Amino acid sequence: MNKFIPISEPSITQKEIDYVTDAVKSTWVSSLGHYINRFEDDFADYCGVRYAMTTSNGTTALHLVLVAMGIGEGDEVIVPDLTFIATANAVAYTGAKVVTVDIEESTLCIDPDAIEAAITEKTKAIIPVHLYGHPANMIKILEIAQKHGLKVIEDAAEAHGAEIEGQRVGSFGHATIFSFYGNKVITSGEGGMITTDDEALYERMKYLRDHAMTKEKRYWHTEIGFNYRMTNLQAALGVAQLERIDEILEKKNTIYSIYERELAGVQGIRLNPSASWAKNVYWMVCLEIDGFTEELRDQFMMKLKELKIDSRPYFYPVSFMPMYEENSVGPVTEKVYKRGINIPSYYDLAEDDIIEIAQIIKTLLKAQ
Ligand SMILES: Cc1ncc(COP(=O)(O)O)c(C=O)c1O
Repeated sequence: MNKFIPISEPSITQKEIDYVTDAVKSTWVSSLGHYINRFEDDFADYCGVRYAMTTSNGTTALHLVLVAMGIGEGDEVIVPDLTFIATANAVAYTGAKVVTVDIEESTLCIDPDAIEAAITEKTKAIIPVHLYGHPANMIKILEIAQKHGLKVIEDAAEAHGAEIEGQRVGSFGHATIFSFYGNKVITSGEGGMITTDDEALYERMKYLRDHAMTKEKRYWHTEIGFNYRMTNLQAALGVAQLERIDEILEKKNTIYSIYERELAGVQGIRLNPSASWAKNVYWMVCLEIDGFTEELRDQFMMKLKELKIDSRPYFYPVSFMPMYEENSVGPVTEKVYKRGINIPSYYDLAEDDIIEIAQIIKTLLKAQ
């Protein structure tokens, strides 16, 4: 490549600049302001739910939901073995035990059968993660949860706009969290959102988000709350991005289609999964290469870097981490994590660059 191609980069247009400038000029720079209200209202509409609540990031969003649901010491929460560590850490913050279960090869998301096998009398909740933009099988997961009386928290940090049978993620679980970190589908710099239809849960989360200050008496607190609020400046960026989400998702889809076309017929590789019931938003383009060990994968990524193409490995299994190693790794997770990398797929990536990246990948694979 004649320039360095990063793995991701947010798309910032005049709209984002105008809204953030407006927020700064308004002097409403902290966590009150009309962009906060607009972001929450527009996001609730987008997901088709009654309530949406901004948070400082996706990790605090997860923690807040768990605490508001009363999950803590002595409880168990089921998470997929293949996810970003924040999913597990938020559970650990509450004192509950992190129970990891295997993923499905067909979605890269949590395996409903593995969930069922891991349920004990201590299990309180399941956190399916819509990994790399592909939704987890919520229909089956909700059936299991209902049978066992468990809460379901969707982790949609990587999947804004993804759908199951035409219904958007964010509207399936008792609550859903989203992240707006700079590399996400849409960004607010740092930031998170919780969506829910449960009014009592929403009110409790709002209270806990703001130091658990009682409504009746200012500066009176009867329990330990948090400051997990988003700023109006971040919300201004978020509102602009949400107004552009259709265009951003369309571009992600196009980028994925170009890679698919250019890499068609190459033996021993696989791009993102796509279940028949799912709309994948291709947050990150996935490239899995058969026969990869961690060493071969790292060498491959190094060669890409030398040719000015950024990439990143799949997440390591949560069960590999010293904090969670009492869990055993799932066989599918163990097989999949080392064979996968993510390759560049950001909004401003040009078609010619994608064609060149695909060409380089083919050449490197031939030389293996
Ligand atoms: C699956 C998943 N869950 C949770 C998070 C946490 O979000 P944040 O970085 O906004 O705290 C992320 C992303 O970073 C993520 O990818």
